[in-house]
Amino acid sequence: MEPFTLDAGDVHLSTPTSADVDRITQVCQDPDVARWTVVPAPYTRDDAVGFVDGYVTDGWAKGNVLTWAVRDRAAVSAGTPAPVLGMIGLGVDDAPVGQQSAEIGYWLAPEARGRGLMTTAGRAVVDCAFDELGLAQLSWQAYVGNWPSRRTAWRLGFRIEGTVRGFALQRGRRRDAWLGTLLADDPREPVEPWAQVETHERIGR
Ligand SMILES: CC(C)(COP(=O)(O)OP(=O)(O)OC[C@H]1O[C@@H](n2cnc3c(N)ncnc32)[C@H](O)[C@@H]1OP(=O)(O)O)[C@@H](O)C(=O)NCCC(=O)NCCS
Repeated sequence: MEPFTLDAGDVHLSTPTSADVDRITQVCQDPDVARWTVVPAPYTRDDAVGFVDGYVTDGWAKGNVLTWAVRDRAAVSAGTPAPVLGMIGLGVDDAPVGQQSAEIGYWLAPEARGRGLMTTAGRAVVDCAFDELGLAQLSWQAYVGNWPSRRTAWRLGFRIEGTVRGFALQRGRRRDAWLGTLLADDPREPVEPWAQVETHERIGR
C-alpha cells in the first residue's frame, strides 16, 4: 500500500521517516512510553532506525501495519519543522476484505499530552479505518491501570469488554489487559459517562 497522510483539527498524520529517528529515540526514553507500550527498554537509536526502516516501511509495503507520526498541522502547512509529537498505528489482520479487524496503538511525547491531540488523531484514524479502508472492527488494548489510554479510547467510542488476565505480552512478560472494541456502525463517541467507567472498575462489572 502507498503511504498516505491524514489531516484533522490541529494534527497532520504522516509516515515517520529517517529524519525522525533522533526525535523518536528521544521520546521513547519517556518512562510512561516504556511502561505502557512494547517499545524496547532501554530504547536506542538503532531501535528507532529499525522501527522506521523495518516496521514502518515493511508495514506500509504489505499494507498490514499502517503507522503515522502525529505532527503539528500548522507547522506542516507553514513548511516549518514539524517534529514528531506522537505515533499512531493500525495492525490489520488478514481476514477477507470487508471483514478485517485492526488493533489501534498510540503514544504521545510528554509535552504533547493533555491537549486532546491523540483524540483528534485517533478520530482521523478510526474514520479512515472504517470509511476509507472498509474495516469491520477495531480493537484497543492497554495494560490494566493505563487510564490516560483508556480515556482516549473511551472518547473515540471504544466499548471496554473487560479485563483479560495475562492477555498481553510486554518484553517477554505477560500482563493483564483491558480490551475494547469498536464496530464500523457504532457511534464514535463515548458510550457511557466517564464516572460510570470508573465506577465499573471499582466495583467490578
Ligand atoms: C495515552 C496517551 C496518548 C494519551 O494522551 P492524551 O490524550 O494527551 O492524554 P493525557 O495523557 O493528558 O491524559 C488523558 C486523560 O486521562 C486522565 N487520567 C490520567 N490519569 C488518570 C487516572 N488515574 N484515572 C482517571 N483518569 C486519568 C487525564 O486526566 C486526562 O483527562 P483529560 O483528557 O480529560 O484531560 C498518552 O498519555 C501517552 O502517550 N501515554 C504513554 C504511552 C501510552 O500509554 N500509550 C498507550 C498504550 S495502550
